[in-house]
Amino acid sequence: LDTAFRFILLGGLVSAVFVFVSLFFVVAPYGRHIRKGWGPSLPAQVGWIVMESPSVFLFAYWCISGPHGISGAALLLFLMWELHYVHRTFIWPFRLRAHGKRTPVFIVLSAIGFNLYNAYINGRWIGDYSGGYTWEWVRDPRFVVGTIVFFSGMAINMHADHVLFTLRKPGETDYKVPQGGLYRWISCPNYLGEILEWSGWAIAAWSPAGLVFAIWTFANLAPRALSNHRWNVAKVPGYPAKRWALVPYLF
Ligand SMILES: NC(=O)c1ccc[n+]([C@@H]2O[C@H](COP(=O)([O-])OP(=O)(O)OC[C@H]3O[C@@H](n4cnc5c(N)ncnc54)[C@H](OP(=O)(O)O)[C@@H]3O)[C@@H](O)[C@H]2O)c1
Repeated sequence: LDTAFRFILLGGLVSAVFVFVSLFFVVAPYGRHIRKGWGPSLPAQVGWIVMESPSVFLFAYWCISGPHGISGAALLLFLMWELHYVHRTFIWPFRLRAHGKRTPVFIVLSAIGFNLYNAYINGRWIGDYSGGYTWEWVRDPRFVVGTIVFFSGMAINMHADHVLFTLRKPGETDYKVPQGGLYRWISCPNYLGEILEWSGWAIAAWSPAGLVFAIWTFANLAPRALSNHRWNVAKVPGYPAKRWALVPYLF
């Protein structure tokens, strides 16, 4: 690894710790936590498509343009990433029941910065700094375990988001009590699934860039899980206070 890339990874790690601590004090103003004073806003669905696009296109660009490209097992790591992000960018936003809901431009710009950074470090790692992944890597226990964790996380994330999408009837914008699956124990299984996905991907790629991204995902979502849980208990009629926020019996 060259010094500049090491520096970029270290910078990401330090900012993730800073953001993790800050998010316990200032809740990111989107979704149920949106409030006045954060400047102009966009329709929520447009916001999601715009802010997640760099993860689809720039990750692909940096992978493919690298000297090692997406040959061998890198192709599988590439496809796992794209499976998540093509869904998140071009399918998931159209399933949102977000009638009239808006997202501050500030959030969209922050998320673009976040996605640019992660697409860069991970795309450059796969296409260049990794030195390439041969097909032999597919039989390595790290790839096998990481892939299992990734797809388990994806299943948890998609199921949890699917439950949320079915709560509102067309035109409704209020909050109800999600039931079933991991909602029996925790308030934010979609976040738990997302954290597992990127932890699994980092293990499968066995890469420092993947690790930084997984830590960032945790730093974003763990404080928010706590804020969502507390908000639900306070504001959603009949919400079970005994649920945990993110990890059963722990947090
Ligand atoms: N990698 C990362 O760092 C990162 C960061 C952020 C998000 N994400 C992922 O992006 C996805 C969305 O995140 P999010 O923070 O927007 O999730 P969220 O707050 O759980 O909301 C997801 C959708 O479900 C709706 N919803 C939530 N709770 C509801 C309830 N009790 N009743 C009815 N509808 C409800 C929301 O409506 P409203 O919009 O009206 O609240 C929104 O449309 C998740 O899968 C998450 O894992 C990843």
